[in-house]
Amino acid sequence: MSGIGAMRLKPTHQEEDAMITRQIGQSGISVNAIGLGCMGLSEFYGPATETAEAIALLQGAVDAGVNHFDTAQLYGMGANERLLGEAFKDRRDRVVIATKFGPTRDRETGALTGVDGSEDNMRAAIEESLRFLQTDHVDIYYLHRMDQSRPIEETVGAMAKLVAEGKVRALGLSEASAETLKRANAVHPISALQSEYSLFSRDIEDGPLPAVREIGATLVAYSPLGRGFLTGRFTRENRPQNDYRSGAYQPRYGDEAYEANLALVEEVKTIAEALKASPAQVALAWVLGRGEHVVTIPGTTKRSNLDGNLGAAGLTITSAQIARLEGLAARVRGARYPETGMRNINV
Ligand code: ATR
Repeated sequence: MSGIGAMRLKPTHQEEDAMITRQIGQSGISVNAIGLGCMGLSEFYGPATETAEAIALLQGAVDAGVNHFDTAQLYGMGANERLLGEAFKDRRDRVVIATKFGPTRDRETGALTGVDGSEDNMRAAIEESLRFLQTDHVDIYYLHRMDQSRPIEETVGAMAKLVAEGKVRALGLSEASAETLKRANAVHPISALQSEYSLFSRDIEDGPLPAVREIGATLVAYSPLGRGFLTGRFTRENRPQNDYRSGAYQPRYGDEAYEANLALVEEVKTIAEALKASPAQVALAWVLGRGEHVVTIPGTTKRSNLDGNLGAAGLTITSAQIARLEGLAARVRGARYPETGMRNINV
């Protein structure tokens, strides 16, 4: 394990050295390679974290050396951005804030209704995000899913205006294909692709990830822990309940796939034991080992898990262990999302 105690407020010098700093494309923005995905504080993985507790987690993360915080208009329909606003309003210069727009929701039911990459929608979204985040600029602004009803050039052209106006520092796309990434990059430099990437999800290696390298961008790997699967926290008896992993939204957690995928996690656990590390640390160290053009944003609502995850920066995995880990993805059962969600992936 990392040896970073949950109760400690400040990292020691030795632990600070274990932090890895990487660049977000050619934007000039540097981040701690292990940032924080904030979605779970507001929805999807069970009930929202109580506000004071969530703010304490976010502020504690900054004290622990994290500077990359990822949110979206979608998460909690503004509630997640509001948390970041409250937490960081008096320490804005110490954090890199990334947010996203595009997907639309029914304000009453929360149901996803589509993706709107129009300039009108973008302008409404950025103004709301800036207000909720209590800031005058967003560091990384993403199109969260591609709007397949209009050319990417139109949306990125509009996003580029936000850079010119000083409201946004760098642009990103989430779950875009290699071709979309390159077309977008021809309009304005795309600094980041944010896509799912983990020991369980390596499909982007077929196109998007090489394209990230080619255009000089950075991959921001989300769900690096397989939405919790790769941490070893789930068992046959202890399945996620009352959150979106327990329904039809996450095929890998469904009845058809769950136990087969649990068996794969056992292999991660075995390697973790040999390294005296946690399975989560092994999963994160593998992602970071893919190269300087990759950073990650594991999600957690708990300080103890955050501290453990940061310890992955100091972990070295042998090439024999890497070879064993790399066999896992092809054996994972179930798609990343149900069919409707997959239609918006790598497009
Ligand atoms: P996402 O990017 O969608 O947030 P992820 O980073 O792959 O997904 O995984 C997030 C999940 O892993 C959350 O359910 C988180 O739960 P907590 O809020 O309870 O921490 C869980 N998780 C993160 N780090 C963990 C750790 N070190 N040990 C156990 N569970 C962890």
